[in-house]
Amino acid sequence: MDVPGFALITGAASGMGKETAKKFAQDGAAGAALLDLNADALEKVKSEVQPLSNNKNFKIVTHALDVSDEEAVMKAVESVKESFGRIDYAVNAAGIAFKHEGGGAFAETKDYRKVLAVNLDGTFFVMRAVAKTMLEQSPLKSSIDGRELGRGSIVNFASVAGLTGIGLSTAYTASKHAVIGLTKTMSEDYAAKGLRFNAVCPGYMDTPMTRQNEVISKAFDERVANWTPMGRAGQPGEVADAVIFLCGGRSSFVTGSAMVVDGGYTER
Ligand SMILES: NC(=O)c1ccc[n+]([C@@H]2O[C@H](COP(=O)([O-])OP(=O)(O)OC[C@H]3O[C@@H](n4cnc5c(N)ncnc54)[C@H](O)[C@@H]3O)[C@@H](O)[C@H]2O)c1
Repeated sequence: MDVPGFALITGAASGMGKETAKKFAQDGAAGAALLDLNADALEKVKSEVQPLSNNKNFKIVTHALDVSDEEAVMKAVESVKESFGRIDYAVNAAGIAFKHEGGGAFAETKDYRKVLAVNLDGTFFVMRAVAKTMLEQSPLKSSIDGRELGRGSIVNFASVAGLTGIGLSTAYTASKHAVIGLTKTMSEDYAAKGLRFNAVCPGYMDTPMTRQNEVISKAFDERVANWTPMGRAGQPGEVADAVIFLCGGRSSFVTGSAMVVDGGYTER
C-alpha cells in the first residue's frame, strides 16, 4: 500500500485503530507510535504488531494518554518526533460512543461535553501537533514508483454518523460531523504545502465499541439487519485497509475527502 514512513495512531489499543497499526507493520512502514488511554492493552497490541513487520529495523513506541488532554498530546507528539525523526502518517481513531436516553432533549451536559472532548477536541489536538511537525519535514517519495508524496498524510475517523443523523446519538453525530469539517478545512489550509487530510466514515463495525452495553448493542444489531444493504457488520480490517490507502502513496491526489466504508449504509 506504499506506506514506507513512520505512523502515529491513536485509539491503537482496540478495534479499528489496532487493525490499522497491524496493517502499517505488514505493509512496510518504518515504525509506528501507538497511543491510547488503555496502557495495558497498548503493551499487548505492541507485542502483536512488532512481529508482523518484515523490516528488522521496524520501530514501535507506545504512549498511554487521554487525547482530550492538550498538554499530554503535545508532549507525546514531541516524543514521537524525537523517537522517529519525523511523522509521515497520523491516524485519529480514538473515540467514544454514547446514547442519550430519551434523545437530545434529555442529554446531560457532562455526557455531551465528554463525547465532544474525546472525539472532536482530541482529534484536533493530535492533528494540530502532527501537522506542525509535518510542515517542517522534507517530502517523502513513493516506495513503489518514486513519485513525490508530500510532507504527510492525516486520516481522521469520522463515521456514517458524520454524514447522517442517528437516533439518541446527539453528541456523537455532532462530533463526527465536526471531524469532517476539521478535516476539509485543514486540507484547504495545507494542500499546497504538501499535507493531505482525509476522513474515513465507517458504517456499523464489529468492534468492542459496538458491544460495550445493551443499548448500543441492540441499536447496532437493528442497523446492521435493517439499514446495511450488504446485510452484515463490517470487520475492522476492512476500514483499516481504507485508512492505509488514504495514508499512503496510492492516494497521492486525494485530500479533503470523507470516504465511506459502510456496506452501502449511506447509498440511499
Ligand atoms: N465501531 C463502529 O461501528 C464505528 C463506526 C463508525 C465510526 N467509528 C469510530 O471509529 C473509531 C474507532 O472505533 P472502534 O470501533 O475501533 O472502537 P474501540 O472502542 O474498539 O477502540 C477505541 C479506542 O479508543 C481508545 N480511547 C477512548 N477514549 C480515549 C481517550 N480519551 N484517549 C485516548 N484513547 C481513547 C479506547 O481505549 C480504545 O482503545 C472511533 O473514533 C469511533 O467513533 C466506529
